[in-house]
Amino acid sequence: MGRNVIHAIAESDQFTLAAALVRRGTVLDRTTVETGSIAVTDDPIAAISAADAIVDFSTPQTSVQLSALAAQRHVPHIIGTTGFSADQAQQIEAAARETVIVRAPNMSVGVTLLANLVKQAAKALPAFDIEILEMHHRAKVDAPSGTALLLGRAAVEGRGTPLRRSDARQGARESGAIGFASLRGGTVVGEHQVIFAGQHERLVLSHTAEDRMIFARGALLAAQWAQGRPSGLYNMNDVLGLPG
Ligand SMILES: NC(=O)c1ccc[n+]([C@@H]2O[C@H](COP(=O)([O-])OP(=O)(O)OC[C@H]3O[C@@H](n4cnc5c(N)ncnc54)[C@H](OP(=O)(O)O)[C@@H]3O)[C@@H](O)[C@H]2O)c1
Repeated sequence: MGRNVIHAIAESDQFTLAAALVRRGTVLDRTTVETGSIAVTDDPIAAISAADAIVDFSTPQTSVQLSALAAQRHVPHIIGTTGFSADQAQQIEAAARETVIVRAPNMSVGVTLLANLVKQAAKALPAFDIEILEMHHRAKVDAPSGTALLLGRAAVEGRGTPLRRSDARQGARESGAIGFASLRGGTVVGEHQVIFAGQHERLVLSHTAEDRMIFARGALLAAQWAQGRPSGLYNMNDVLGLPG
């Protein structure tokens, strides 16, 4: 995603890359060098000092560390990273008291709208079972995807019930629980389907990510939106002005 963000900045005339942060001790590879004159650094404080916003797709641990630095320096932090533990999520919430944090497990405009549609459908179809299916490339480490969980949360928000997961595939289907299924393989960028299964009918809402640039462009939109906002934890609904 780091490379996608660099490309998204290069294709836009509204952003300048202040610095590209790499892990300490990283040996710069050919791709990094190909980007030409960008300031590559392994010093997060130097990177943050030069920036109006941090766009971060990394690891949960790294994002938590960056959010603390962002809070100290009051720099907006856009977090695309997924797979946070409850404790890590709390640390990000704490950092958001001191700066603007936009955190979204999916930065695409399409998935943000899909979540809103899922919420509406779940509310309108209370008797339908809900199953969420996702497929990603073989290197993805977390499952179900952050986006699948986001869609599950949107569904239960629509129903006004807590999220109850039903991942077991043995026995009869539990009423009211949401089933998550994760497929992994090849180079799939991201497929999500939310299936509403009722008596003799099914409604399927789905999104296909064809290129990771959609996430990078969404993150830049969030970085722009964050400028001058009061401190707080926001998501892509806020950025796009959707009810959420
Ligand atoms: N929200 C969204 O729309 C969205 C979209 C796509 C992906 N994601 C999420 O974004 C995250 C990254 O995805 P990815 O596919 O780009 O993974 P990736 O290829 O593994 O990239 C993660 C990058 O973070 C770097 N990194 C880790 N710790 C670092 C540190 N302390 N300082 C600087 N750099 C550090 C890694 O560097 P090394 O190579 O040195 O380890 C690596 O280049 C995942 O959590 C993924 O689920 C979210």
